[in-house]
Amino acid sequence: MKKESHLFYQTRQRRPVLDHASGIYLWDIDGKRYLDGSSGAMVCNIGHSNPVVLDAMRRQLDRSTFGYRLHFETEAAEALAEKTATLAPDGMEHVFFVSGGSEAVESALKLARQYAVVTGDAGRWKVISRFPSYHGSTLGALAVTGYTPMTAPFDSMMRPMPKIPAPRAYLDDLDPTDIATGEHYAAMLEQKILEEGAETVLAFIVEPVGGASTGALVPPAGYMQAIRRICDQYGVLLIHDEVMSGGGRTGRFFAAEHWDVAPDIIAISKGFGAGYVPLGAMIAQERLVKAVLDAGGFVHGYTYAGNPLACAAGLAVLQEIERGDLMSNASNTGAKLAETLNTLRDVCPLIGDVRGMGLLLAFELVADTKTMKPLPAAMKAFDRLVEIAYGRGLIIYSRRTRGGREGDHFLVCPPMITTAEQVDEIIMLLRASLKDFMNSIDSELKDHGIKMS
Ligand SMILES: Cc1ncc(COP(=O)(O)O)c(C=O)c1O
Repeated sequence: MKKESHLFYQTRQRRPVLDHASGIYLWDIDGKRYLDGSSGAMVCNIGHSNPVVLDAMRRQLDRSTFGYRLHFETEAAEALAEKTATLAPDGMEHVFFVSGGSEAVESALKLARQYAVVTGDAGRWKVISRFPSYHGSTLGALAVTGYTPMTAPFDSMMRPMPKIPAPRAYLDDLDPTDIATGEHYAAMLEQKILEEGAETVLAFIVEPVGGASTGALVPPAGYMQAIRRICDQYGVLLIHDEVMSGGGRTGRFFAAEHWDVAPDIIAISKGFGAGYVPLGAMIAQERLVKAVLDAGGFVHGYTYAGNPLACAAGLAVLQEIERGDLMSNASNTGAKLAETLNTLRDVCPLIGDVRGMGLLLAFELVADTKTMKPLPAAMKAFDRLVEIAYGRGLIIYSRRTRGGREGDHFLVCPPMITTAEQVDEIIMLLRASLKDFMNSIDSELKDHGIKMS
């Protein structure tokens, strides 16, 4: 008889047991191989079981695995902070370690708030964010998240935070390459600040390239620069949530580098520890950290912050990204993958949009590629295609596109070590999965009167 498990997650769904992983592949205990087409949850950026990272971790294991920050400094934490600061925009030299993305966002919100308090601006507490967006599952990060299924049960426990629409030009039939489009969406931030009262607005938090909630949404031309300008104009701090987009996946270490803009605070996690250890960081401007520390200290922290084993692994990850020139590979391989994803329309005419940067890529299925009308929600395309692909040994990652209620997008984000031949393998598996998927929904499309152009 099958043993009852004591573990539980979000649902009752349970997966095969993982045996081992190497490069872009994982194997279950029955020997089935899976191509990690989403790097887990866009985490394992440098692939699995990198020997250099494992060696660095072994070396640290032999020295110490824990040194509490109130009792000791560690060389590992110091070295990773120094390396991180060299990758960050000028003036962002202060690094606060955490163990994950939600903690990085919480830390950013709290540093922003404490900065306002110590600089005589205690009336500022509202954090404007976008809808849809995802900033984490802890209550502070969730309050700024725009994804209804995840926030609704907890609404009454959180202070409502103002939201503006994410700049989804492809849904509004606007040209994303036109600066006027960027200005159009950025003007919504200014309007919201004025509506709320600028003196009450603490910060604006934004994913420079969107993650799971928007499906790799790239901001329209001029947007990133315009929001920086507006934040400066109204004394609002700008927080970049680079938990998913940071770490090199878009072709630059921080996605915002593509637009040459620097925020006041950055949250980073997933690709920073690359799945080797739970790790993240909040990186902040000198003036914020100085003001808060001079006024008595940052009233915030986590037991595992700066854990030496995590930091040793993180440093080795960053060194491997540089040694293998993996950001260039993410750009080049990502361009090939994006181009080939577009060719899949021949087997799946429901593909309405292919978007992203580098190896942070997604495609979206729609009922009508002209109006971008979503497929009927009850069809659960986002779930079904993922399961079909999983059955074929390809892992991709999906979410509902329109705030979690409807819409179906799929993130195709393999590790940054993926080769051109492996892109062909991904496309071959995806093509076969899309064919199976189209066959499986054929009668439902007819029932809903959905015609494929
Ligand atoms: C943009 C963004 N911010 C924050 C988080 C939360 O990170 P974690 O799940 O590590 O707490 C995520 C996770 O998907 C994310 O994509």
